[in-house]
Amino acid sequence: MRKLIVGNWKMNGLRQSADALVRGILDGLPVGADVGVALCPPATLLASVADMVRESPVEVGGQDCHPEASGAHTGDIAAPMLADAGARYVIVGHSERRSDHGESDALVRAKAEAALASGLRPIVCIGETAEQRRAGEALAVIKHQLAGSLPAFAQADALVVAYEPVWAIGTGDTATPADVEEVHALIRTALRSAAGDAGSQVPILYGGSVKPANAGELLGTAEVDGALVGGASLKAEDFLGIITAAAALN
Ligand code: PGA
Repeated sequence: MRKLIVGNWKMNGLRQSADALVRGILDGLPVGADVGVALCPPATLLASVADMVRESPVEVGGQDCHPEASGAHTGDIAAPMLADAGARYVIVGHSERRSDHGESDALVRAKAEAALASGLRPIVCIGETAEQRRAGEALAVIKHQLAGSLPAFAQADALVVAYEPVWAIGTGDTATPADVEEVHALIRTALRSAAGDAGSQVPILYGGSVKPANAGELLGTAEVDGALVGGASLKAEDFLGIITAAAALN
């Protein structure tokens, strides 16, 4: 499967810095690399980033969406609005949303379904905490989150799943390739049993302190179809290093 590298800018970026970052990424994209690339800037920058990448293979995504298509929800952003601004993807259920905003699996599923209904590809994030891993519960937690968060109707061709161990996000610690392989194998099995053959085509991304130095090893691990990148997506050179590592594996 073609690798997919997604940059999650989180709550970072003003117009000027975003402009320089996108230009740097577009200028340095490895020519002819068969790698999918998407940028998920904050909502304020989505339309301008979408405009900047319009003539390039780079796509854009939102970082969250509301489960409803419109209505009285001050401060929220609906999936059709993201699509209208030029998004192709939307991250749902990121651990920072789950912890900062108390998002449940059921809410994440509703958001994923709203994304699909708007023609967006939801990137459904799951991952265990350090305590859960220490207690030997990582696989059970992942299974439970998958069962609760994946959209109920099968549109496997539009779905993306991201495994992001909470303790690896923004910490510089990454899961070992053996741990990543174990969790990704479990996710693949769950996707196949939910969606049959189509479950084999769902990209499973790894996220959590991915950087150029570890990207080759992580992306070369079985069933790792790409990366969801936070901190390292804010520097063109680092993000390009990860894209180049992905391209080298084709
Ligand atoms: P990180 O973030 O690469 O900074 O660890 C990943 C993420 O939260 O998606």
